[in-house]
Amino acid sequence: MLLELIALILAGIHFGIPLTYYLYLKSKYLNRPWNIKIDENYRPKVTIIIPTYREAKFIWERLDNLYAQKYPKRLIEVIIVDSKSDDRTIELAKEWASKHPDLNIRLIEEDRRYGKLHALQTALKEADQDSEVIVFTDADAIWEPNALSNALSYFADPSVGSVTGSISYVVPMNCGRYLENTYREFYNLIRVAESKKYATPIHNGPFLAIRTNLLRKIGLPYYAGSDDSAFGSLMAFSGYRAIQADNVIVREPIRGSQFRRKIRSAQHLFLSFLKTRKYAKRIKVYRYTRPFEEIWKIEWWLHVVNPWLLAVSTLLLIIEILLYESLTALALLGVGLIFLTLTTYRTWILQQIYLIIATIKNLWTKEVVWKK
Ligand code: GDD
Ligand code: MN
Repeated sequence: MLLELIALILAGIHFGIPLTYYLYLKSKYLNRPWNIKIDENYRPKVTIIIPTYREAKFIWERLDNLYAQKYPKRLIEVIIVDSKSDDRTIELAKEWASKHPDLNIRLIEEDRRYGKLHALQTALKEADQDSEVIVFTDADAIWEPNALSNALSYFADPSVGSVTGSISYVVPMNCGRYLENTYREFYNLIRVAESKKYATPIHNGPFLAIRTNLLRKIGLPYYAGSDDSAFGSLMAFSGYRAIQADNVIVREPIRGSQFRRKIRSAQHLFLSFLKTRKYAKRIKVYRYTRPFEEIWKIEWWLHVVNPWLLAVSTLLLIIEILLYESLTALALLGVGLIFLTLTTYRTWILQQIYLIIATIKNLWTKEVVWKK
């Protein structure tokens, strides 16, 4: 009975903390005003950076999509950094650029593949001196036409350090309701509500806008995970609002092995929770803000510790069943399995599994350069 009780308590904590946090954010913050001076007419100079490796399939459409943004072209510079793609990425980018001379677009070719993070570092050095906001994006991302201008309107307020987009997935035809979208809806709500409270620790690579002078001052961290998710935390630890905006919508296709991607993304998330606060302190940009410390502590718990409670709880039940033929344990495990028919629950459990695998996998590879 003791083991069952412990298992039950662990599971209670595992599900109770995120659920309480979700309900707390939803009821208290989601519908609050931003408390930011948003100015739709604020028009900074922006540098859009696209790292590419083997993106021939997407690059043309990506550039078309940037071209269609409702933002003055004379205020945009685009930098593509390619890591020696062996497909037609570079050729297509050059051709596109020659057909659209009214968009300032530059192509940097690295001599070999060092990974996305390195490519971003290379691009950053090339950004115009008078660039005010840097936007990182992926070759396969698609922004809503007003995404850029909406995001930039928050930068009118000097307290804002970064703005990331809310992702929705482009699901392959006939796949019904993909788990991925349930995952996104759940996390989008949390990230936006955290942003309204103060800042969200996690940012999204498909749209990630950062104030240029801050990025130059703070620099890009060199550890894996810092090419997307960690920017939010880094900005917030530096004393700036790091927000995910609900009116900056970006789409991302589901492609390749979703499983491998999810593990990598969980690995990067985990690393960013392990390292970013220490990093901010080490480079002496850290500033204490109470709301963000609260958010960070919970998210740190949810990413680093919480998944293991579920694992241990399940393990205890299995031990009870196998060693002591416990019917209570069997019933509890059964209930847990029956709930898997609920999409949200299933999505949650999968995410826990990804985080656990990711934590273990981080011991031997950090996925700085990933298979494409
Ligand atoms: N220059 C360069 N060099 N670009 C690269 C490299 C590289 O070695 N590896 C990947 N990229 C580019 C891709 O071409 C793409 O534009 C972008 O980085 C994201 O890579 P994807 O292969 O599309 O990865 P994803 O779809 O799983 O991306 C998500 O996870 C990544 C981190 O795990 C996004 O959120 C990314 O923004 C994020 O970095
Ligand atoms: Mn992608």
